[in-house]
Amino acid sequence: MHAWLCEDPVGVDALNWKELPTPSPLAGEVLIEIKAASLNFPDLLIVQNKYQMKPALPFVPGSEYAGVVAAVGDGVTHLKVGDNVACLSGTGGFGTHTIAKAALCMPLPGGFSHVDAAAFIMIYATSWHALIDRAQLKAGETVLVLGAAGGVGTAAIQIAKAAGARVIAAASTDEKCALCRQIGADETINYSQDAVPNAFRERIKALTDGKGPDVIYDPVGGDFAEPAFRSIAWRGRYLIVGFASGPIPNLPLNLPLLKGASLVGVFWGDFARREPKANAAMMGELAQWYAQGKVKPVIDRTMPMAELKAAYAHMGSRGVMGKLVMTNP
Ligand SMILES: NC(=O)c1ccc[n+]([C@@H]2O[C@H](COP(=O)([O-])OP(=O)(O)OC[C@H]3O[C@@H](n4cnc5c(N)ncnc54)[C@H](OP(=O)(O)O)[C@@H]3O)[C@@H](O)[C@H]2O)c1
Repeated sequence: MHAWLCEDPVGVDALNWKELPTPSPLAGEVLIEIKAASLNFPDLLIVQNKYQMKPALPFVPGSEYAGVVAAVGDGVTHLKVGDNVACLSGTGGFGTHTIAKAALCMPLPGGFSHVDAAAFIMIYATSWHALIDRAQLKAGETVLVLGAAGGVGTAAIQIAKAAGARVIAAASTDEKCALCRQIGADETINYSQDAVPNAFRERIKALTDGKGPDVIYDPVGGDFAEPAFRSIAWRGRYLIVGFASGPIPNLPLNLPLLKGASLVGVFWGDFARREPKANAAMMGELAQWYAQGKVKPVIDRTMPMAELKAAYAHMGSRGVMGKLVMTNP
């Protein structure tokens, strides 16, 4: 097998494509022949030693992937050789093969392509858990999505629309805003043009008849969090999803008081660990939504696995719309 090996977590340049012995699965594990692996934001952080999870060295990055089961270890009953699976295991995806815990592998229903499956679990699980579970979004409510053309942002647009909400998508370029409208957003805000916080607030106000969004989905953090929160509706729910722009905002606590509004933390990974039954039920519903065409990953592009460094560069330049997926022949 071949894989991108991280022996020194000082950045993408230090990754090396290496030939490695193909491992055999132990009890409870499976060997997967990887067909597709997507890039998620943590994949960028983990090779720089900036992610909360710090795997033992050396490791193969690639948090999320899909492929075919090539061998099964003792005690694995729900998977067999030849099954198509998707897996989110944190590492291992950027190669031709990997060992995964069988319990983490989701068997793919017929009709689920490897590319879509590799780009599915992280973004849809996060956005469903955020909007449907944590925010208790109701049909007819208005959702403002920041970073709306990114991975979790595009999933949030589709899930909010499927739940009957009105969606205002905010992103940094006209091209990104056009993509958001294409996948269902009712209105868009280009926040690089409305960079003055007051202009951003005025746009939100104008698009919500002065009432403000009921739910704000924020995977970006930084400068727009406070003006966005100041615009939220009475009884609004502000979803803290991530800080892709870097800075963690400091919000004055009088603001939630004045709006009777809630700051709602979202941590899908821990939800899945702490509440596995609820997570499994959610994944089942999401697979049905995929089959019904209510959600479908936006694929910015696919690239051969060998071009991983170029893919990382594209992601780092803030240019990706939806998801980047690496493929093996
Ligand atoms: N809480 C959870 O459970 C959970 C789960 C998954 C992901 N996350 C977090 O959610 C965030 C987004 O993840 P993602 O996979 O959707 O990432 P992504 O596809 O790269 O999207 C991030 C978006 O953030 C915006 N952005 C603003 N400033 C940026 C900067 N300096 N660099 C990069 N992007 C910037 C970009 O949109 P514009 O150019 O339009 O501003 C970009 O589209 C990450 O922080 C990730 O760790 C959290």
